[in-house]
Amino acid sequence: MEAGGQRRGTQCWWFAIRFSLMLSCVERVSAQIKYSIPEEVKVGSVVGNMAKDLGLDISLLEERRFRIVSGAEDAQFEVNPNNGLLQVHGKIDREELCENISPCLINLKMVADNPMEIHYVGVEIIDINDNSPTFPDDEKVLEIYESTLSGKRFQLPAAHDADVVTNTVRMYKLNDNDHFSLQIRDRGEDKIPFLVLQKPLDREKENEHKLILTAIDGGNPPRSGTLNVTVIVLDSNDNHPFFSEEVYSVKIPENVERHRSVIVIKANDLDEGVNGEIEYFFGSELDPKVYDTFSLDKDTGEIRVKGGIDFENMEVFKLDVHATDKGQPPMSTDCRVIIKVLDVNDNKPEIEVTSLSKIVSEDSKPGTVVALISITDQDAGLNGKVICSLSD
Ligand SMILES: *[C@@H]1O[C@H](CO)[C@@H](O)[C@H](O)[C@H]1NC(C)=O
Repeated sequence: MEAGGQRRGTQCWWFAIRFSLMLSCVERVSAQIKYSIPEEVKVGSVVGNMAKDLGLDISLLEERRFRIVSGAEDAQFEVNPNNGLLQVHGKIDREELCENISPCLINLKMVADNPMEIHYVGVEIIDINDNSPTFPDDEKVLEIYESTLSGKRFQLPAAHDADVVTNTVRMYKLNDNDHFSLQIRDRGEDKIPFLVLQKPLDREKENEHKLILTAIDGGNPPRSGTLNVTVIVLDSNDNHPFFSEEVYSVKIPENVERHRSVIVIKANDLDEGVNGEIEYFFGSELDPKVYDTFSLDKDTGEIRVKGGIDFENMEVFKLDVHATDKGQPPMSTDCRVIIKVLDVNDNKPEIEVTSLSKIVSEDSKPGTVVALISITDQDAGLNGKVICSLSD
């Protein structure tokens, strides 16, 4: 009797529920009971005492087939028919169930037969910090010109963390380094890391910089992920070509044959590619004879004899040579090449009789000047030294 009475009472209640369900077709069905558990709890963990909370008779649970009919992929929860406890049945991964939706609420629809009874139970899955921040790639390569001004910003990829709220990415750090600092910009819900150039780069000193960006989440304890950032420094034409000497000296004999190589001058440039490719030119302010006498190979810096050289005509040639790189704008330097011509004994001494007494009297005293003869030789040094001797 008593049981029957109770059954009737429940039936009335069921009609009331059905009526309210009809009404709630337009509204959201809200759960009668709400439990919460952290994700990843052990199978068998108790979520709540359903029978007690719903006022069900434990002894009748089995007979009335009290069960979960829908909500979640069911397998995550089960009702223990012996005691009416809602228990964890399978792995509960909040990230899989709700992705980035927070809070993560699973609605279970519970049914008991005979008479039919429906209950709605909500289970909130609490996020735990079980995911680390990760970057889309392992490495980020940035190419930056060495001429880039300090203060320039370079965007870096943001890290992702499957966890939500405080367990997701909270901050970024950059390893200690000489050139870059880190700036975090809030873009809506996302934090975007930027590299900021603090100190000018110099490719000739360091052509690559290895940095490590670390993303840290707000969990307790926090988890982190790293990204290797490689900065490749691109060349700018910031170096002048330079000669190893300011002045090059070379000696050539005056009878040197045409096309003979005199000297090869070479300038260096620390820049890369066309910024370091050098061309050589004669200066524009040279003695015009130079252009006729010597040629300069613009690519190799080799100076060759072009025209005849006459020591008696020109003893020393002074050549200004410019070296210019092919950068944009180009940079240049210059040097001087001194070419000394060595005399070759190609001139005979010349005798010039300045005065000559036609008649020398018999009684002339020794020491009387009878003739003034000058002898000259165009050649230099020993080649021009004249030894005189009289012969009969
Ligand atoms: C990142 O850099 C570290 C140290 O600089 C290195 O050991 C690691 O292999 C790098 N990782 C990748 C993916 O390049």
